[in-house]
Amino acid sequence: MSDRSPTPDQLALYERASAVRERAYAPYSQFPVGAVLLAEDGRAFEGVNVENGSYGLTICAERSACVRAVGDGARRFTAIGVSTHPSASTGSPCGACRQFLSEFGLDLVVVYLREGDVVAEPLSALLPSAFELRA
Ligand code: THU
Repeated sequence: MSDRSPTPDQLALYERASAVRERAYAPYSQFPVGAVLLAEDGRAFEGVNVENGSYGLTICAERSACVRAVGDGARRFTAIGVSTHPSASTGSPCGACRQFLSEFGLDLVVVYLREGDVVAEPLSALLPSAFELRA
């Protein structure tokens, strides 16, 4: 067992993200993604990728979950489950989403599929030397 092995709760979070993925709006890429962001207070925020005919306006599932959470007053998060296209053997958050999520802390545990296995690792491992705005 590697130290990236998910706990049963983390595995359940990933499975929930897979169910959420069914609601993705991805008519252009046909690449649906679902995300579930867990807040410290126990709330869970679901997000899907939402594409647009003006392609660059597309928002990823992870950011869509985060925007929803912050809009509902949550800012402290423990974990995010991300589930991408069922035939993809790896489905980790894109660089933009890593940076976006890092705004709220690098201890966030990211649960995603890596080479066919569900893994759990902190955002700090996925985004070393993260950009931070310091005045
Ligand atoms: N996508 C996400 O939702 N999350 C990511 O981390 C990477 C990519 C979406 C954007 C687009 O709708 C589709 O996947 C293909 O790039």
